[in-house]
Amino acid sequence: MSDHEYHPKSRLGKWFNDRLPLLTLANHLSDYPTPKNLNYWWTFGGILTFCLITQIVTGVILGMHYVAHADLAFDSVEHIMRDVNYGWLIRYVHANGASMFFLAVYIHIFRALYYGSYKSPREMIWILGMIIYFLMMMAAFMGYVLPWGQMSFWGATVITNLFSAIPFVGESITNWLWGGYAVDNPTLTRFFSLHYLIPFLILGLVVLHIWALHIPGNNNPIGIDIKKPSKDTVPFHPYIVIKDMFALLIFLIIFAFFVFYAPNILGHSDNYIEANPLVTPAHIVPEWYLLPFYAILRSVPDKLFGVIAMFLSIFVLVILPWLDTSKVRSALFRPLYKQFYWFLIADVLILGYMGAMPAEGIYLLIARVATIYYFAHFLIILPILGKKEKTLDVPLNLTEPVLGGSQNTSMAKEVSTFKRN
Ligand code: HEM
Repeated sequence: MSDHEYHPKSRLGKWFNDRLPLLTLANHLSDYPTPKNLNYWWTFGGILTFCLITQIVTGVILGMHYVAHADLAFDSVEHIMRDVNYGWLIRYVHANGASMFFLAVYIHIFRALYYGSYKSPREMIWILGMIIYFLMMMAAFMGYVLPWGQMSFWGATVITNLFSAIPFVGESITNWLWGGYAVDNPTLTRFFSLHYLIPFLILGLVVLHIWALHIPGNNNPIGIDIKKPSKDTVPFHPYIVIKDMFALLIFLIIFAFFVFYAPNILGHSDNYIEANPLVTPAHIVPEWYLLPFYAILRSVPDKLFGVIAMFLSIFVLVILPWLDTSKVRSALFRPLYKQFYWFLIADVLILGYMGAMPAEGIYLLIARVATIYYFAHFLIILPILGKKEKTLDVPLNLTEPVLGGSQNTSMAKEVSTFKRN
């Protein structure tokens, strides 16, 4: 049924829908034709929506009890943990929720990389996603400053100081960010304000992200364009809804494990020491999800170029749709790209590990090699692969390879191997 044909059955529904067609929208969303071969990697968009809502709800409650003042912030967090009813639960869900959010977003991003979901005509979905990702990092960084522990304070000091590397105006920009001459109360209050604001900006961008998705429709593991609706699609409700719910349940079990059994394992113990500008911790490390970028930053000997490299490492992702010149989307039909995909995953994991180690000796050397490889992947390997790689034949529709009607045995074998995995 097309959107234009939808008419609510009740008179109230008709009255309402004529004035604000929310029911038409709900009908569009529930009927939305989805490729029938989507696998579980496609459930992470829904999981991310859940994560965002969880962060907003728990964050708003924490904000009722938290005090954004350098003299009171640390104690107000302890007050939440000890005195507020279920405050410990709300705080642990929020803190571990940030980690789970990043875990889900990394899976979501690497799914897109594997199946070529960033390619035409989905560039806008991808770019909106990258803006969301950048804002997520800003929100997480500022949120980590709020408990005003040692790692909060020194993390904020290290990162804000990076801006001082900008020639001529760097010092002024840093002072402007701080609201003074060091990280202090004005910095804390503005970080709280922005930390509260950003998730709502993300929410708005998610609406655009999903809107942009609904123009071309979902990509799929085979990576071919399909007709919508057709025998290659199923309606979003109930097929995708029930699959997303099942995946969310598994995700919640893992989430609950961290919250109830290891709530501090992903954090740094130094953050249980109140911020002290006179005592610098031995190692200042960001949260795990920022470590690869931290490794890139430190692997460049010059401070300014380190900052530039760090921002460029995100920027190459933004322009990825134009760097990857291959016409074939899915890695299933790109044997060489598939290998390089796994090299990239290994490279990012190595960068993450090096980001947690001291920037010296062998660690620094490995981080430098991994940084060079990271940029080489996007700026050299992908453009060349797109032109030179011999891809496998791609099926014409989603049904063909599954029902065995395909003429192309190599492709059918690839697809069945994929299904077994
Ligand atoms: C708050 C964060 C985010 C939310 C709530 C979100 C939500 C969604 C949803 C619901 C979908 C459709 C279902 C799916 O494909 O899993 C989707 C698709 C997509 N997302 Fe996101 N997303 C987020 C962040 C990102 C980021 C950071 C990127 C990458 C930079 C990204 C890139 C994409 C792409 C390329 C698709 C199309 C997938 C396809 O059709 O194959 N998203 N997103």
